[in-house]
Amino acid sequence: MKHVLSVKQFLDKDLLASLFSRADQFQAMPAAEYPKPLEHMTLATVFYEPSTRTRLSFETAIQNLGAHLVTVENAADNSSWKKGESIEDTAHMLNAYVEGIVMRHPEIGMPARAAAVSKVPVFNAGDGGGEHPTQALLDLYSIQRMKGKVDGLKIALVGDLAHSRTHHSLANILSIYDVELFLISPESLAMPEDVLANLTKQGVTFHILTSWDDVIGDLDVIYMNRVQKERFKLIEEYQALKGSFILTNEIANLMKKDAIILDPLPRIEEITVEVDSNPRAQYFQQAKNGLYLRMALLEYIYTS
Ligand code: CP
Repeated sequence: MKHVLSVKQFLDKDLLASLFSRADQFQAMPAAEYPKPLEHMTLATVFYEPSTRTRLSFETAIQNLGAHLVTVENAADNSSWKKGESIEDTAHMLNAYVEGIVMRHPEIGMPARAAAVSKVPVFNAGDGGGEHPTQALLDLYSIQRMKGKVDGLKIALVGDLAHSRTHHSLANILSIYDVELFLISPESLAMPEDVLANLTKQGVTFHILTSWDDVIGDLDVIYMNRVQKERFKLIEEYQALKGSFILTNEIANLMKKDAIILDPLPRIEEITVEVDSNPRAQYFQQAKNGLYLRMALLEYIYTS
C-alpha cells in the first residue's frame, strides 16, 4: 500500500489489529521515546476545506515521527489552485519538495487524482461527501479500545448519512465485522445506495430507521454526526433538517450504562453540551485516539 485513499484498502482484520496494537503502544509511550522512521523526510498538508482534528493530528503525528512539515494555510484560497492550477500539476510540484501529501478537498476523488500522478504517498484526509478513511480507522480503533471488541456490537449511525463521509467510511469498514447496524436519519438524508450494497454484499444485518425511539436502549455504540451544511444547495433545506436528531442527556441516559457516544466532530448541535459530562460521552477521547492511530498508520506506510 502506498497511497491511503479509501477505507476499502483496510478490509483486513489482521492489518487493523496490528495498526491498533501499534497505536496502543504509542498511547503508552513517553514522547521522548517515539521512534523517528520519518527522519530526514518532509511531508505536506494541503487542505482545501477547513479542519481542526484531521489536519492538526496529522501534523503532530508527522512531527512526532521525526519528519519536517510544510503546509498551505487554506489551500483553496492560498495555493495556486486559486489561479486555476490543476490538482495533477500541484501533485507534480509537491513531489519535487516532499515525501508525502496529506490532502483534504471538497470534491470527491481529488486525492485519488493527485495520487494517480504522485510517486510519494497521498493520504485522503476527506474528499467531499465521499470518504474519510483515516477517520474510519480511528473510529474503529476507538470502538475496539473502548468496548474491548467490535464483533457482536449493536451500532447506530445517526444523522446526515447521505453526505457524511465519516458515516460512509465507518459503515464500509464495519462491514467485515459481525455487527448489527442501525442507520438512522431523516428519509431525505439516507445512506447512499453504494454503501448499502456493500453491507448487503458482506452479509451485514442492518436496519434503516427514521427514529431511534425503539432501539436507543439496546445500543452499544451511537455514532452521531452533524448535518453537513456545506453539502446543501439550499440553505432552507439545511435549516429544516439540522435539528432532526439531537442527543440530549435525557436521551443519552436511556442508553445502556456501558454504551458509548461517538462523534467525529466538530459538534454543532447534534449533541447538547450537557452530554459532555455523561460517562457515555467518548468523542473527545475518540479525537485524541486519532493522533496515535495516524502515527501508527504513517509508520506502517513508510516502513512496510
Ligand atoms: N473529524 C474531522 O474530520 O474533523 P476536522 O474536520 O476538524 O478535521
